[in-house]
Amino acid sequence: MSGPTFAGEVADAAAAHALGTEYVQAVGKVVTSHVRNELAGATAFDEPAIGLAPGPREKWLACRIAMEEYGHHLKFARLASDLGLDTAAPGRTLSVFDFELTSWTEFVVLKALVDEAEVVLMEDLAAASYLPLRDLVVRLLPEEHFHVSFGQARARELAADPAQVGLVQQAVDDLVGFTVPFFGRSVSANNDTFRRWGVKRWTNDEARAAWVRRCSRFVEGELGLRFPTVDRHWDG
Ligand SMILES: [Fe+2]
Ligand SMILES: [Fe+2]
Repeated sequence: MSGPTFAGEVADAAAAHALGTEYVQAVGKVVTSHVRNELAGATAFDEPAIGLAPGPREKWLACRIAMEEYGHHLKFARLASDLGLDTAAPGRTLSVFDFELTSWTEFVVLKALVDEAEVVLMEDLAAASYLPLRDLVVRLLPEEHFHVSFGQARARELAADPAQVGLVQQAVDDLVGFTVPFFGRSVSANNDTFRRWGVKRWTNDEARAAWVRRCSRFVEGELGLRFPTVDRHWDG
């Protein structure tokens, strides 16, 4: 990381553009990544989960979660268009979306673990220098917390069921591996720029370590299952 860290607050899109292209690009990368990945998650996991849900109450909850995740996509897209960004440009979605969802049990574990990763990212952005981004994540965080607590509550029930506990452990093992790259590489020029401009506070490894701490505490302490060994560094 080079240069002093920007400590100001940026009220709106006009103020962002007044700061210059590098700032707009830094905020833009974070925002458009959420535009892509909220949609990818809703499409790959949350909408199919409605069909996998075993009964009407679970389907109702899955509908609510899918609605909220599609809503997150739309709200980040609005933020992007306010900044004058092209969100139609193709970009890579995170590798976690390559996970092939085949059961309600996997979906429940996914919400407990993968949405916790999203919570970690949003908690970092809740102090972002770009105030419209800060305001948006503060509004969305209660929904992400709900997704995690839904996943945790259902995972606790399933882990207590002898017929399901093996599937819960398998889902934990698979999903942890898929989620490690979610936070980005340990050495990241993008992350350096985000921190220099006060868009993020944490390095990718700090965010990854926070996620590992929370999820291993939940899996080992509350589910009584094994959390896989994770290298907190990731270089692709
Ligand atoms: Fe979301
Ligand atoms: Fe979520």
